[in-house]
Amino acid sequence: MEQKDLLKEIISHCKEYGYVFPSSEIYDGLAATYDYGQLGAELKNNIKTYWWKAMTQLNSNIVGIDSAIFMHPTTWKASGHVDAFNDPLIDNKDSKKRYRADVLLEEYLEKQTQKIQKEVEKGEKRFGDSFDKTQFIATNPNVLRIKEKQTQVQERMKTALNESNLEDLRQLIIDLEIVCPISGSKNWTEVRQFNLMFSTSLGSVAGESSTIYLRPETAQGIFVNFLNVQKSGRMKIPFGIAQIGKAFRNEIVARQFIFRMREFEQMEMQFFVKPGEELTWYEHWKEARKKWHLNLGLGEKNYRFHDHIKLAHYANAACDIEFNFPMGFKELEGIHSRTDFDLKQHELHSGKKLQYFDPSTNESYVPFVIETSVGLDRMFLSVLSASYTEEKLEDGSERTVLKIPAALAPYKIAVLPLIKKDGLPEKAQEIMRMLHLDYTIQYDEKDSIGKRYRRQDAIGTPFAITVDHETLESNTVTIRNRDTMTQERIAIESLPAFLNTHCSWSSLLGALA
Ligand code: GAP
Repeated sequence: MEQKDLLKEIISHCKEYGYVFPSSEIYDGLAATYDYGQLGAELKNNIKTYWWKAMTQLNSNIVGIDSAIFMHPTTWKASGHVDAFNDPLIDNKDSKKRYRADVLLEEYLEKQTQKIQKEVEKGEKRFGDSFDKTQFIATNPNVLRIKEKQTQVQERMKTALNESNLEDLRQLIIDLEIVCPISGSKNWTEVRQFNLMFSTSLGSVAGESSTIYLRPETAQGIFVNFLNVQKSGRMKIPFGIAQIGKAFRNEIVARQFIFRMREFEQMEMQFFVKPGEELTWYEHWKEARKKWHLNLGLGEKNYRFHDHIKLAHYANAACDIEFNFPMGFKELEGIHSRTDFDLKQHELHSGKKLQYFDPSTNESYVPFVIETSVGLDRMFLSVLSASYTEEKLEDGSERTVLKIPAALAPYKIAVLPLIKKDGLPEKAQEIMRMLHLDYTIQYDEKDSIGKRYRRQDAIGTPFAITVDHETLESNTVTIRNRDTMTQERIAIESLPAFLNTHCSWSSLLGALA
């Protein structure tokens, strides 16, 4: 299936089966806002649990908090968001569509990477087994020409962004002959900066002093609580504080389903370290986060690291973990070495010391911070896009199956009595009662067994337990595997051990421990 069609298929599948609905749909929806339905909420909670347990349960030096969405407005002055949390926007005069200038340039660079990939594929075909990819990339004139151009564009873009040179950013778009994907024209406006924070007013009096912001990231709630947590938890550096919560950004160009929304959720962890050790910890967290993603089994080739061209105002090293979404490789998670910028800024604006006293050296210092920040909604989309599969079966029929990692699936088990009589439903209910304290289960007795299997495939239930007449005689059931469609007969008393091996939290987290 074409990648762009895949996104459409996923959107309609999500709506049909209760994963994601357009928000306030009866009023024709609200742009770039979505609601998670009954299955979506389960999947989202499971992704949160996977992250939370991996962070706080598997690392004895990481604890989790839940800070308020509203914060004192000075927080955002201190963090730099009031002055610098801007997107450079450009409009196409013909289509009247608005774009982020940096994203247009990133997309141009990505096209060049794809051109290089095509050259490599041509080389592979031409030279067969004797093909040496490294040598080819280092010597092929076409590849070298494209790479040189890429480097030039990257350098110019980096300088323009770092110096906020909006004129040159526009000129670069014009020089590269980038066209609007809608109108196909190069008729661009000036580039303008646009602040992304939503503001509202506190209490009944609207005015300058009562303006507050909806947090654009969860990280600041961690920074302002650094000392509270360190002291009350007697934490010793290095240690981390994790948080999951909503963030809000007035994204002007919000699109691509739940990839870029105005209200979304982040899972962030700030890791406080001794100054000078931050780059070692930065490498540590790059590896740890990659391992966490790969452990889901969505395919190693679907991930890649991307170093930032423009470092944010607070960072001395930064990269993204990108995922191969239906729209191509895009940011899934950011890993930043944020220096001591945030804590120092909060010291400056609050007049309070935010320092760690190291008992081993009798010294106080402001720690440096490594941040890992992953979008929950983007995780959700990555899981769905890698899991969504349309299969042609041997008998010529077709099935749509969500091959969601078993521990993340909304329902772990479907319990299906073969027929609606002869005591089979009662036996099925008994099995449900035995398992439902530990697992989410769906009971279904309507329609033929084949139809019920298809329904469970479509919602991603990894195992279907069928109760038949033999069950009543031998206390055994068949258990059907969603991905292989194979069935085995096992004793009812073995079900807890089977499920523990295949879809419990320990089955997923085991490889990370
Ligand atoms: N505290 C650092 C921070 O907020 P970021 O790269 O701006 O860094 C972190 O955001 C993650 O949040 C991103 O990697 C992405 O997964 C998610 N994210 C950011 N903006 C988003 C949006 N508009 N919609 C959905 N997810 C978003």
